Amino acid sequence: MNIAVMTSGGDAPGMNAAIRAVVRTSIYKGMEVYGIYGGFEGLIDGKIEKLNLSSVADIIQKGGTILGTSRSKRFQTEEGQESAVSKLKIYNIDKLVVLGGDGSAKGALALEKKGIKTAVIPCTIDNDMGYTESTIGFYTAVETVTDAISKIRDTTEAHGRANVVEVMGRSCGDIALYAGISGGAESIIVPEMETNMDEIAKKMLEGKNRGKRHHIILVAEGAGEAHEVARELQKLTGIETRVTILGYIQRGGSPGPADRIMATSMGVVAVESLLENKSAAIGIRGGRIFSEPIGTALRTKNKFNRKLYETMKMVSI
Ligand code: F6P
Repeated sequence: MNIAVMTSGGDAPGMNAAIRAVVRTSIYKGMEVYGIYGGFEGLIDGKIEKLNLSSVADIIQKGGTILGTSRSKRFQTEEGQESAVSKLKIYNIDKLVVLGGDGSAKGALALEKKGIKTAVIPCTIDNDMGYTESTIGFYTAVETVTDAISKIRDTTEAHGRANVVEVMGRSCGDIALYAGISGGAESIIVPEMETNMDEIAKKMLEGKNRGKRHHIILVAEGAGEAHEVARELQKLTGIETRVTILGYIQRGGSPGPADRIMATSMGVVAVESLLENKSAAIGIRGGRIFSEPIGTALRTKNKFNRKLYETMKMVSI
């Protein structure tokens, strides 16, 4: 019986490093390995090809995913899932590694219930999977946002303005929090915490009165609309306030070392779990890679790091 690997949902930098690790480990362990192209959509359509060592050469440093990805509505139906399983059977595939976020993990669990052993490698820039301390792609996205903030700060400073920068993260504020700290932003607005606009405005005015010529306010997309925030702050402070929506730039680019190393380690553990005939969600806690049942992982609620939020507040007065 054979093993396959696929990517699903929003791509994340480091997916390719994980694909490479899964393919190489599988071959090292003497297995035949297949790639599924285009996520669950591609699986339903039978877009399956055999991979070899050179299929994954020269990809560890690349963003995106060489396998392509999708958000599949069809796979959410019983018919779609049955069709996916039938395609796996054609290729004698009974073990599948799924790279993606929460939605992809749910897809993997659905396949497990239909007799396919599945392993989930957490890949999303959002860092919103509660069972694991970090997800692959998150630290690279934080680096991209940090770099963007530095550039935005230059021009903001030149004009003595404020800039409201909207970042991704769905309903999770982690990109805003971590990039806010590493980029030295003045304020962050995240869905997990109440926002007091008067407090932010006061901080901007106090900064201005001390001679500060830039004010960077990071808004997580799940916490509000950047243009509205900018309008309100400009009204409250009189400081000219511009908006930058970083958008998909946050999902691209070469993965940083932390994501490459995590992707490689998790890829190996995913294959090892499947070879032990165990379905598993792979995660990291306290620097240690672990695996646990996918259902358990999916039930673990994501917890916002309030301590880090307080740290951000203290150092940005
Ligand atoms: O989950 C990753 C993510 O980039 C989110 O931060 C964002 O809200 C969403 O995907 C965008 O999805 P799509 O690529 O479908 O527009």
